Amino acid sequence: MDLDVFTLFPEWFDWFVAQRHVRNVLDAGTRLRAVDLREHTPLRGGRVDDTPFGGGAGMVIRVDVVDSALQAHYGTDPVTLRSSRRVIALSPSGRLFDDALAAELADEPALTILCGRYEGFDERIIEHFVTDTVSIGRYVLSGGELAAMVLCDAVLRKLPGALGHSESAVEESFSDALDGNPEYPHYTRPASYRGWPVPEVLLSGDHGRIRRWRTERSAARGAGARPADGVGPPSAP
Ligand code: ADE
Repeated sequence: MDLDVFTLFPEWFDWFVAQRHVRNVLDAGTRLRAVDLREHTPLRGGRVDDTPFGGGAGMVIRVDVVDSALQAHYGTDPVTLRSSRRVIALSPSGRLFDDALAAELADEPALTILCGRYEGFDERIIEHFVTDTVSIGRYVLSGGELAAMVLCDAVLRKLPGALGHSESAVEESFSDALDGNPEYPHYTRPASYRGWPVPEVLLSGDHGRIRRWRTERSAARGAGARPADGVGPPSAP
């Protein structure tokens, strides 16, 4: 996979690509480049944004700046770029990112990700250059960089070489193997701690029972059966 992230803060991604699980995927042939939106700006002083027409707070990333950055990087008109690769703008109002979208994007040979700052993008960027707008949650971050890392992390860990064990990503939360439910609870040694025992079934060695128990627990979590598994205060002992 070929991943390009257009950002005002390319150096943030130095840390991201140095993480072991990301490194593993990059070593296995995936390429991730952080491209500085300022590098090819047609404006003086590295300027990339402007005040919104009609007034209002904040600054908006300019369409000519994104046009120049994409043109310079791909050597093609960004209007036609989106017929050859997904071009994703990160925005709090986009399609909510989930495991299904991560899996869909992991099947793509190439992705371009645009990180906004300030009040976001001039809408003509979305209309003419972009295939998808994606949100990692209904809250507003100061920019798309952290959202890009979330998206890249979730996508990259689905690619070969990301995880130590090939099965690890198959039976994880929200996967088809678990019917889209969250993952079942895990326990490790000690088998009893401060009087809190590990469920007996997990120590039984009976793989059929363990599998049934895990499927049940995963489905119960999916149904929101226990507040302690999700939102809300932990249930009383
Ligand atoms: N940019 C700012 N907030 C965001 C969010 N919640 N998701 C994606 N991009 C964003």
